[in-house]
Amino acid sequence: MLALTHELGLRGANALTQAFGVDLTGKVIIDRSQKADLQCAAAMQLAKSLKRSPRELAEVLVKALAEHVAVKSTDIAGPGFVNIHLHDAWLKQNVGNALSLRQIGAGHTVVIDYSSPNVAKPMHIAHIRSTIIGDAIKRVLRAVGYNVIADNHLGDWGTQFGKLIVAYRKWLDEKAFSENPVVELLRLYIKFVDLEKEQKQALGKKLDGDEEDEGAAGDAPPILQEARAELVKLQQGDDENVALWQKFIDVSMREFERVYKRLDVSFDVVLGESFYNDKLASTVQLLLDRGLAEESEGAIVVRFDKARDGEALAPLLVRKKDGGFLYGTTDIAGMLYRVQRWNASRIIIVTDDRQQLHFRQFFAACKQLGVKASMEHVFFGLMRLPEGTISTRDGNLIGLEALLDEAERRATVVAKECNAELTDAETVEIGRVVGIAAVKYNDLSKDRTTLVTFTWDKALSLTGNTAPYLQYAYARIASLIAKGVDAGVSPGELASFEPTERALTMKLLAFDDIVEQVALSSKPHMLCEYLYELAAQFSSFYGELSVLKAEPAVSAGRLRLAQLTGDVLAKGLELLGIGVLSRM
Ligand code: ARG
Repeated sequence: MLALTHELGLRGANALTQAFGVDLTGKVIIDRSQKADLQCAAAMQLAKSLKRSPRELAEVLVKALAEHVAVKSTDIAGPGFVNIHLHDAWLKQNVGNALSLRQIGAGHTVVIDYSSPNVAKPMHIAHIRSTIIGDAIKRVLRAVGYNVIADNHLGDWGTQFGKLIVAYRKWLDEKAFSENPVVELLRLYIKFVDLEKEQKQALGKKLDGDEEDEGAAGDAPPILQEARAELVKLQQGDDENVALWQKFIDVSMREFERVYKRLDVSFDVVLGESFYNDKLASTVQLLLDRGLAEESEGAIVVRFDKARDGEALAPLLVRKKDGGFLYGTTDIAGMLYRVQRWNASRIIIVTDDRQQLHFRQFFAACKQLGVKASMEHVFFGLMRLPEGTISTRDGNLIGLEALLDEAERRATVVAKECNAELTDAETVEIGRVVGIAAVKYNDLSKDRTTLVTFTWDKALSLTGNTAPYLQYAYARIASLIAKGVDAGVSPGELASFEPTERALTMKLLAFDDIVEQVALSSKPHMLCEYLYELAAQFSSFYGELSVLKAEPAVSAGRLRLAQLTGDVLAKGLELLGIGVLSRM
């Protein structure tokens, strides 16, 4: 109903502008309301600046809004809330547009950076959340008309490659590598890190420091010195090391792609960190030339300023003493590149909440460099998985695949229990669709900024705000429509408008609103909540009224509402990256 609320908002703003001689374009917002169909609080918000009483403004609004064809009546509540009641006829006529979305993104490009796992480093559970949440946001942005560039900013450069090259040459188990290269790389990486720890301890060093902050190369553990030497060779383009590095990327990427395929996730470009290698020196130079960066103990840092940047952030290191560049340098170079290459007006990056400071620093630096695009760090809390599903090193990819296998297996069992008539092939297909959906939905349905716990019972439950519940609601509607067809009823104009039919209509017409909110806030859980409420509203409608056994004209209208509900459920789930089945 966004088209309507926008029209009413415009109309209200025009009327106030005319009445009081002050331009109030864009200042009148129409909201949904429990008490009426719609409500407007602008009279209270604007009264003070106009030096008028809210009541005076409300009277102007009430009159102007009542003239719209959709509006049946308006009244003033409390100090100046304007209640708006809509004509049933208008609702009935317009419910068919429930699926159309205002194209607020038309003409704009947004780059969304998500998933972005690190090659040859244990894939953290954070990357899985980033993949699922990022993909849903991408789908929503596309649906409202943005030109979306999905970019997988692969961590394919960095100190881990020096380590891996050393470990590979020393300890490779060729058979294991040919069978499952990523498992073998992970083993090599862990073996390296363990040895490094041991040597550090022997040298009497504290264990928590990252080698990047450590002093003179001379007192680093010998194995680390070796890794650094190999890294330098790689950076200088040594043929053998470059070939090994490429091999590590290729085998990892193959693995990632298998998971992306299973999750139905895709990217438009994969520009990893290494893509920006040749842009880092000039990025630091630009920061220096603009007076934004300075030398500090041999390194180069960007300093921030409360007055200029809005907050006194800690300095951001962009070049190490040894001349090496960092994550933040790459990110600044990446931002400049994305803005230039795609002329993007929004850049969204999805990572876990532990990186918040990094993003505040790097966005502040980009602003100083003149980036005008909206830079958005979409962060999320971490997810707890059930004991034992994900192996020791915190949610690696292999662990994710095991989780997906288990989800499919369990969903197959549930499907069989629910409906014994299904063939084996059907149950397997249902298990696949429902299992993957359960994992994704669990990730999407809570406010992303909170910590999420995954439990099998909750994720696979057929009741409550879960994927199986929504998929089941969809399947029931699909079978209702099929039954209608068999009985010779087909969806038609709404002939009756009982309160529960009206409530369902209002809910259907809220879909575009919610999708727009998700597009603006990057919070997919709002869409989940909406779909859950829609399914519940449908349940009351279906529980209270007879759909197929009413008067033919009434049946046709009710079947239409059922069909629209099914369409909105399917579309909403699709925007979340979740499939539906017509039989469960
Ligand atoms: N690879 C990074 C990590 O694992 C995430 C990258 C996110 N994107 C970015 N432009 N910083 O933490």
